[in-house]
Amino acid sequence: MAQRETWTSRAGFIFAAVGSAVGLGNIWSFPFQTASNGGAAFLVVYLLAVFLIGFPTMLIEFTIGRRSKQNAVSAFAELGYGDWTFAGAIGVFASFITLAFYSVVGGWVISYIVGSVTGAYLGDAGAYFGSVSSGLVAVGAHAVFIAVTIGIVAFGVADGIERATKFMIPAILVLLVGLAAWASTLPGAGAGYSYYLSPDFSVIASNFADIVPAAMGQAFFTLSLGFGVMIAYASYLGRDDSLPGDSAIIVVLNTIVALLAGFAVFPILAATSGVGDASGGAGTAFIALAGAFGQLPAGQIIGLVFFVVLLFAALSSSISLLEAPTSYVVDSQGMERRTVAIGIGAVAFVLGIAPAYGYVGLFNDLVFNVLLPVAVLFIALFVGWVANREAVDELGRGSSIGEGATTIWLWWVRIVVPIAVIVTLYLGVTSFYT
Ligand code: PHE
Ligand code: NA
Repeated sequence: MAQRETWTSRAGFIFAAVGSAVGLGNIWSFPFQTASNGGAAFLVVYLLAVFLIGFPTMLIEFTIGRRSKQNAVSAFAELGYGDWTFAGAIGVFASFITLAFYSVVGGWVISYIVGSVTGAYLGDAGAYFGSVSSGLVAVGAHAVFIAVTIGIVAFGVADGIERATKFMIPAILVLLVGLAAWASTLPGAGAGYSYYLSPDFSVIASNFADIVPAAMGQAFFTLSLGFGVMIAYASYLGRDDSLPGDSAIIVVLNTIVALLAGFAVFPILAATSGVGDASGGAGTAFIALAGAFGQLPAGQIIGLVFFVVLLFAALSSSISLLEAPTSYVVDSQGMERRTVAIGIGAVAFVLGIAPAYGYVGLFNDLVFNVLLPVAVLFIALFVGWVANREAVDELGRGSSIGEGATTIWLWWVRIVVPIAVIVTLYLGVTSFYT
């Protein structure tokens, strides 16, 4: 077998993983999930989900990937007893389904870049969203987005990916801080903050069955967990990196970007359509931000820069979504990388025509409420109960965490993560039908 590529540096891996994590999930999905699920009540559950379940789950994917040095499916054959490759296959399938609708939302971003140039959204941000978010325009933009994604993936792992993220993350942070600062001056900003930040615990209690699956799904989605993506990325990782250290950096950075997006969107909503107004549905963040650019001095230019940066964030995520199924097929069938990336991308494009005609929510629910919890359940059971001990000990390699911490993590993965995910799944699937 040919020598496997590795990241040229630790930073290269972190950039790629952060590139995968930080994306539309932070700026598009997080504000709208928060607005649709009671504001701060959702935020509290979401943060618990990220740190108590997401962080240890990222460590599961990293240990599987680095220990096996295999793609997200074969990894399960390498480390365990019996055939658990189905666990990886669920994740790869989730990546593929997600790519189909992610690319549609990525297409919206492209339409907002065009709208920044023409000024088309400056007058009526809501109407503009309506005109680009579904139908032929949406299909066309989705085609462009997926074509660019295919182009990047077809040319190899390390090259394309390592570069783009380096300037994207600082740029996104600066832009969001600037927008949040401006939004703080809007009339009504205070009411926006209190909706976003001061939790009403009775809302958590009464909406538990909706909030928990939404928050867990958002946590997995935003951290790129349950897709096999982090398994695939970690498989190219050298042995002397600290997995807990890298994971902490990724989780914290990703959380900061999402929180900042909320700090921009919620005061804007309060000042425009109403405190925590989620009637814009999947368009909530786009409409709020584009509306803000319509009022800002030099808003058209700021909007252009913002949506270009968001496009980079979306692309560094979508390439990881295409990478997971591509590297699996390349490894297992020995086919040429370029052909595989084009083939899978083309099928995802066709599948994406449905969300481009208004079914983003359906795809979103399928992934959040069903596929991701199921995938995470199996990878947790795998590492917790099935994989050999070397796989578990991979956690501590290259890091200063001791035997004790590894044991705590192992029991957390054995018991807490599966229970949390089963509860989520139960609530999520039942809410699907009601
Ligand atoms: N984490 C990405 C986001 O928040 C979405 C994603 C999931 C990307 C899985 C790749 C893999 O936008
Ligand atoms: Na994210």
